[in-house]
Amino acid sequence: MRTLAVMTGGGDAPGLNAVIRAVVKRGVTVNGWRIYGIRHSFDGLYDGPDGVIDLNRDHVRGILRLGGTILGTTNSGDPFNHTLPDGTKGDLAKETVARLANLGVEGLIAIGGDGTHDICARLAREYGLKVIGVPKTIDNDILATEMTFGFDTAVAYATDAVDRLHTTAESHDRVMVVEVMGRNAGWIALASGLAGGADVVLIPEIPFSMKAVIAKVLRRRKARRGFSIVVVAEGAKESDGLLHTQVMKASGAVKLGGIGRYVAEAIAERTGIETRFTVLGHLLRGGTPTAYDRLLATRFGNAAIQLAERNEWNRMVAMRDGKITSVPLESVAGGTRSVDPNCDIVNAARGMGIAFGDESVAPIE
Ligand code: F6P
Repeated sequence: MRTLAVMTGGGDAPGLNAVIRAVVKRGVTVNGWRIYGIRHSFDGLYDGPDGVIDLNRDHVRGILRLGGTILGTTNSGDPFNHTLPDGTKGDLAKETVARLANLGVEGLIAIGGDGTHDICARLAREYGLKVIGVPKTIDNDILATEMTFGFDTAVAYATDAVDRLHTTAESHDRVMVVEVMGRNAGWIALASGLAGGADVVLIPEIPFSMKAVIAKVLRRRKARRGFSIVVVAEGAKESDGLLHTQVMKASGAVKLGGIGRYVAEAIAERTGIETRFTVLGHLLRGGTPTAYDRLLATRFGNAAIQLAERNEWNRMVAMRDGKITSVPLESVAGGTRSVDPNCDIVNAARGMGIAFGDESVAPIE
């Protein structure tokens, strides 16, 4: 009997459970293989008997529509830099691959983002791990795939938030600033800003000036549109500015965030218009995956097992030109996919009059 393992690594994204379900349905129910679920990224290999689950059909019943991951995840589960029980860091990469081999695991299906794929490509290169990557992230910023699951759910939620902010903004003639996740890519801000009919969209790929943002808000006032909606990606920055970050006191970890408040305060101070800000944060990562994400996740999970059936290892499943395919894992390791400032979505947004804050500012009369 063939034996594989599956794990989820990095931040969660709606659709992870749909991938796990697809992997178990095709792998265990249809093919008759054994599939171990490793809990909390690679950490489960060090957590005793509870850290590894012999997955069967019952484990995945009813999980298609559930957000999160039944396997748990962590974004600090790097075997090359593992946190040991005494709190110190150690390199457990070789031991991690050995523990998988001791379980009889032939290859690993790693559902993760760029961090997980980097780690797995390195484990493959240095210790011969056989791996198949499945790309997940709400940020949609993984190289070589035009879509990751989780993104559609995040955009649907952010668009709903923009819709809600529209009605209250209009009632009060206020400027509403909404900060969305996305790390150093502006996909979520761009998609939800365009789908929600925002007036200003600020993304990392197009550095902005507050002057241009304010000019847009004032121009709308002059045209008797009293309110404005600004969607700002957490990684956006001014042309001459720095990233806005917050340091978590307990861990010292540096997290993106704070740009929404900064932009809102700058607008209020320089225009006198009442301005409010909302940070969507992890709400974008939670909840029920959309039908699109369930479909994509199921297709990705099915494709991962198909790669294993054909013994095609060290590849990542991907969507290219709308079709499910795969690419070498090495080709995606170490990079991310950003918004091309000249792409058709940005072009459509500009065509709808959305400002990106890079416009030259004409004098306001
Ligand atoms: O990559 C997904 C993401 O949600 C980013 O958009 C965000 O910057 C980051 O993860 C937050 O990570 P954490 O899980 O550490 O809060």
